[in-house]
Amino acid sequence: MELLKLKELIQGIPKAELHLHIEGSFEPELMFEIAKRNNIKLEYDSVDSLKKAYKFSNLQEFLDIYYIGAQVLLHEQDFYDLTWAYLTKVHSQNVVHVELFFDPQTHTDRGVDFGVVINGIYKALEKGRQELNISYKLIMSYLRHLSEEEAFKTLEASLLYSDWIDGVGLDSSEKGNPPSKFERVFEASAKHGYSLVAHAGEEGPVEYIWEALNLLNVVRIDHGNRCLDDEALIQELIEKNIALTLCPLSNVALKVIHKMEDHPVLTLLEKGVLATIHSDDPAYFGGYMNENYYETARALHLTENHLRQLAINAFEASWLSQAEKDKNISSVNNYFDSYIG
Ligand code: ADE
Ligand code: ZN
Repeated sequence: MELLKLKELIQGIPKAELHLHIEGSFEPELMFEIAKRNNIKLEYDSVDSLKKAYKFSNLQEFLDIYYIGAQVLLHEQDFYDLTWAYLTKVHSQNVVHVELFFDPQTHTDRGVDFGVVINGIYKALEKGRQELNISYKLIMSYLRHLSEEEAFKTLEASLLYSDWIDGVGLDSSEKGNPPSKFERVFEASAKHGYSLVAHAGEEGPVEYIWEALNLLNVVRIDHGNRCLDDEALIQELIEKNIALTLCPLSNVALKVIHKMEDHPVLTLLEKGVLATIHSDDPAYFGGYMNENYYETARALHLTENHLRQLAINAFEASWLSQAEKDKNISSVNNYFDSYIG
């Protein structure tokens, strides 16, 4: 497909974002603005010098900068502005549903109250629902480099706001922090009514994906690239209809893969895995949903049908009700059926 046409096609697809860390949508311009009003001096003296630091050899190098950036977020207004900036950005890309992660411990460990964080995020999400027609779910992630005990404290703190929280996730430094470390807190989270997901098989081995499935009982795997190392696991993912929320630009930026042409999404789609494409930390990795679709389609020569399948898969894998899924999937199908390329 001609590249201009491909861009136009992707722009119009109604899309669902299922793998997005709100702290990873913190654009440098907004970071400097909030740092200034909070009287915080960033280690970098300009937006340009900060952007120049966005060169990563692995997940940890990224996380080190990501946690520094998040330190300027102090007040409810800051979390609100961050979330609202994200929503207006993705609205312009025709994203109609978001399931977003936030990392409470990144903030509570600095003395910022759980309520301050979630109130800001929630108010922006509600405004997005009313004014931009973006439906949403909210996922609280436990930081896996911290202890399970710390995760339990976070679960406890969340209970006051459990009506606003749909699920829990597991993120941060994967290697050396297997899902098994969090088995009890995931079990307790489920008892409180939270749905479960976990990052697994991004940098970590295929065993971590098995653990996330068998010990944590997750309903989706975030990333999961490494599943291609294990045919039995692929069969398990297909049988149980477990989605993999893949993040192509993130994988290139963090050297999970060498180049986009090596991305596993097409192989996984062709095997029948419920694979989806998302943006992870778009302010750091060079793009939001459209850019992820576009760069992947270009490198792997995806067809219109592949793109249709990816868009449908994301609604299928979402936590929307069956009626809401059907409505969104119909609008994806109507869009492709009437598209004249
Ligand atoms: N936190 C934010 N982005 C992440 C990623 N790609 N992997 C693990 N933890 C993260
Ligand atoms: Zn992620």
